Amino acid sequence: MKAVLFDLDGVITDTAVYHYEAWKALGTKIGIDIDEEFNEQLKGVSRTDSLNLILEKGNKQNAYTEAEKTAMATEKNDLYKTLIEKMSPADLLPGIKNLLDELKAKDILIGLASASQNGPVILDKLQITNYFNEIVDPAKLKAGKPDPEIFVTGAQQLGVNVSECVGVEDAAAGVDSINAANMVSIGVGEAKNLGKATKVVPSTADLTAGLLEDVWSETIGRA
Ligand code: BG6
Ligand code: MG
Repeated sequence: MKAVLFDLDGVITDTAVYHYEAWKALGTKIGIDIDEEFNEQLKGVSRTDSLNLILEKGNKQNAYTEAEKTAMATEKNDLYKTLIEKMSPADLLPGIKNLLDELKAKDILIGLASASQNGPVILDKLQITNYFNEIVDPAKLKAGKPDPEIFVTGAQQLGVNVSECVGVEDAAAGVDSINAANMVSIGVGEAKNLGKATKVVPSTADLTAGLLEDVWSETIGRA
């Protein structure tokens, strides 16, 4: 294992709740109810794709012009930005700081493969930017998760082969993206949502460099 590519929201920090709150507020305004079950489908999905899924759910996919949709996505993002404003290193999920330290000590490369355009700001707030060798810019990608492009691009930026990487995700779309990139995938959360991952762990506290290396070795067969 030469590199680990991390999703951000729901893996490094629990911004998933802020995305949910911001979409729910927009949904309420336009008369579309978003519950936790539907929200699972939005995890890992880009801002524009998320809005389209919400409009489809409410049967309003043709109700707005492109300009109105852009305004709605901006409104959601403005609320999201106020919700993340006060984030600090205390918002790192359990075990993540330790994992980043372990990976650094082992000279394993670290990359960010998040669909979020707010990713770099959040890494700064969490004070972990320096750990990251590479950050994929989601605005430059043609296709979002579950397409493999973001994880393949991350491996390319780090200068490693996909077979030398492990990807870590909390969303079904993200696990599909890692698998389609032919990488070993670690899902953090419930097996009912992440069953396709190479290995599912219930909590970020379970993520150690040793676990990632073991799963990689067992899967790739190069212990
Ligand atoms: C992903 C989140 O990481 O980023 C999604 O799981 C979100 O919920 C996506 O829609 C895009 O984020 P942003 O910050 O660019 O709107
Ligand atoms: Mg996520």
